[in-house]
Amino acid sequence: MMRSDLRTLRIGCVTLVLGVAGLARAEDAVRRVVDVNAGWRFHKGDVESAGKAAFDDKAWESVDLPHTWNAQDGQDGGNNYYRGPGWYRRSLGELKGVVGKRVFIRFQAANTVADVYLNGAHVGQHRGGFAAFCFELSPHLKADGANVLAVRVDNSHFDDVPPWSADFTFFGGIYRGVELLVLDPVCISPLDYASPGVYLQMVGVGKDWAKVQLTTVISNGQDKALDAKLDVELRDADDKVVLNERFPVELAASAEARTQHVVHIDNPHMWNGRRDPYLYSVTVRLLVDDKPVDEVHQPLGLRTFGVDREKGFVLNDTPLDLHGVNRHQDRLDMGWAITQREHDEDFALIREMGCTAVRLAHYQQADYAYTLCDGMGLVVWAEIPLVNRIADTPEFRDNCRQQLRELIRQNYNHPSICFWGIHNEITAPWDQGPDATALVRDLAALAKAEDPTRLTTCAACDPVDHPANWQTNVVAVNRYFGWYAGEAEDVAAWADATHKAHPQTPVGMSEYGAGASIHHHAWPPVKPKHNGPNHPEEWQAHLHEVHWRAMRERPFLWCKFVWNMFDFAVDARNEGDTPGRNDKGLVTYDRKTKKDAFYWYKANWSDEPFVHINSSRYEKRTTAQTTIRVYTNCDEVELQHNGKSLGKQKCADHVCEWPVTLEPGTNEMKVKAIHDGAEVVDSCQWMLALPSSDGAE
Ligand code: GCU
Repeated sequence: MMRSDLRTLRIGCVTLVLGVAGLARAEDAVRRVVDVNAGWRFHKGDVESAGKAAFDDKAWESVDLPHTWNAQDGQDGGNNYYRGPGWYRRSLGELKGVVGKRVFIRFQAANTVADVYLNGAHVGQHRGGFAAFCFELSPHLKADGANVLAVRVDNSHFDDVPPWSADFTFFGGIYRGVELLVLDPVCISPLDYASPGVYLQMVGVGKDWAKVQLTTVISNGQDKALDAKLDVELRDADDKVVLNERFPVELAASAEARTQHVVHIDNPHMWNGRRDPYLYSVTVRLLVDDKPVDEVHQPLGLRTFGVDREKGFVLNDTPLDLHGVNRHQDRLDMGWAITQREHDEDFALIREMGCTAVRLAHYQQADYAYTLCDGMGLVVWAEIPLVNRIADTPEFRDNCRQQLRELIRQNYNHPSICFWGIHNEITAPWDQGPDATALVRDLAALAKAEDPTRLTTCAACDPVDHPANWQTNVVAVNRYFGWYAGEAEDVAAWADATHKAHPQTPVGMSEYGAGASIHHHAWPPVKPKHNGPNHPEEWQAHLHEVHWRAMRERPFLWCKFVWNMFDFAVDARNEGDTPGRNDKGLVTYDRKTKKDAFYWYKANWSDEPFVHINSSRYEKRTTAQTTIRVYTNCDEVELQHNGKSLGKQKCADHVCEWPVTLEPGTNEMKVKAIHDGAEVVDSCQWMLALPSSDGAE
C-alpha cells in the first residue's frame, strides 16, 4: 500500500475505488496518435507556391518518412553534399472524428529549419535540426474535404543555428517520424517545447521510501474555467498497479496550467544501471466531469547519482565505472533517416561489448534511443550540438537556449540520462570563433534551472585550461594520443596531470581512438598517418589496448568513452579506405563487421565467453614468421594450426599470443576455450604466398 501525503490520503482511498472503475473507461482512446509517415511527395530544391493547397505535386518523388536527401551525397566524400531547401507535401484526406477535437502535428526532428503549411496557411517554423517540435493545426483544418500539408525543410548554414561546423555530415530532411495528435479541447499539453507535458522528479529517497514530484502541463482549450482531476497511476515492472491517486486541479479558461503533486512510493525498486535497470511506468489521466479526456504514459526510474573526484561516477551510493562509446546516429546509405530496427541493432552491439555508458554525440538523438538506454541500463551523456565554432549574437544564444530546453524537457523522464552536455570543442584552435565562456556559463545555468537533478558536462579540447571548458559540474576531454599527436602511452601521464591540475572538478575522457580499415593490415602494428590512405586495423587495436590498460587503473576518470562505436559519414574527409568516412569506429558503417578492437573491449567489459583471432582478415601473407594474437575473456585457450595443436595458454590480461611459422599455401588457424563446460571457438585462414621463382615477394 502506498502512503500518500495527508492532503491526498482520503482522496487516495476513494481514488483506489474510482481509479479501478475509472480504468475501465480509460480503455476508450482518449488520445489518438496517427502516424503520417507514409505517402509523401518530395522535391529537392525550392519551389514557388509549393506551400499552397492547390499546388500540383504529381511529378514529385514519392517518399515515406523518415527521409533524407543526403543519403548518398552526404557519405561519398568531396565535401559537396547538397545543403539547401527541400519540399514535402502530403494530403491528410478527410480527417474523421476530429470535430470538437484539437489536432496537432508533431515532428520528431527535421534538419535544419522547417516551415509547416496546412491548406496554404503558414502554421509555424522550427529552427534546429535535432529536437521534436509541435504545432496546433486546428485553426487551419477543413472539416470537410482534403487537408494538404506542405513542409519546407532547409539544411543550409544559418547564422543563428548551431552547429556551424563539425566533423559529421548535416543530413537534410524530415529524418525522423511525424504524427498527428487528436486531443480533447482540454488536454495534457503537447506544446511545452514538444515535451510529453509530464515531468517526474524524485525529490526524496530513503531506505524504504521515495518521494516523486509530478509536474503536469495542462491546456484548457475551452473558454470557461473548469474543475478537473488528475489521476496518477504507477505500475511496477510486472505491470502491477502500485499506486493510484487522484488530485483536483482548477483550470482557468483558455489557459495553460502547470500543476505539481507529490506521491510517495514505499519500498522503491531503484534503477541500477546495467546491473538492474528497473523501470516503473506512470500513467497520468486528465478527467473532466470525472470522464477521462487525455492520458500520457511515461517511464520512471528511481536512482541517486553523482561524481566523486577520486572514485568517479557513483550510482545509488555504489561506484560504477562509466566506460563505453560515443555513438553517431547515421547509417550507411540511410544518413540520419534510420528506423527503430537500426537503433535496436546499434544498442545491441553496444550492450554486447559490455558498455556501462554511452555518449550520444553530438546532438539530441531519437527519443527511442534514450528509451533503449533506459531499458538496458546504460548511463547516458546527452548533449546539444554546440560544436567547434560559435557565434556571439543574441539570436545564436537564443537558439542554443531553445535547443537545450528542448533536449531537457523532451527527455526529462529518461532515467538513463545523467548528464547534459553543453558543448564539444568550442575552444578548438583550428576553428576559432569568439570567446564562448559567457555562453557556456549561461547555458550551464539554464540546464540547472531546467533540471537540478542532473549534472552538466562538456567535451573539452586544447587549450583545455580555457575558462569556457570549466563552467560545468564535471568536465571531460577529447584526446587522441597515438593518432593526432604524441604516443598512445602518453595517456597515463596526461590523465594524472589533468586530474592534479584541477582539484575542484572531476575530469574524464570523452573521446579517444584511432582510425581502422578492415582491409588494411600490418604486423607488428605501426602508427599510420592519420589523414593518409592506409589505416591498419592492428594499430587501432594496439592503441586501445594501451589506453584501456592505463585508464582502467584511474577511477578518477569519471567517464571513458571510445570515439567512436561506429564508422560514420563526414563528407569532408578523405582518408583510410573510403572517402567521406570517419573510420574510428569499433564497428563498420554498415554494422556488418566488428573490428579487432571491439573484441578487446568485450574481453574486458563482458562476461559472455568468447575467443577472437586478431588480424583474421589479414589473409594474404608474404612472410612465414608471424604472431597470432587472441582476445578472450576465458582463462585458457588452445591453438591449432592446420589441425595440429600448439598447446594451451593461460591468457594474461585477456590476450594470448603464439609465434607461428606459416606453411606455404593455406594455414587453418583455430582457437578454442572451454567455459562452464561449453566450448567457444574462432578460426580463420591465412594464405602464405609461395616465393615466386625469381624470389620476388
Ligand atoms: C573530435 C570531435 C569529433 C571528431 C573526432 C575525430 O574530437 O569531437 O566530432 O569526429 O575528433 O577527429 O574523429
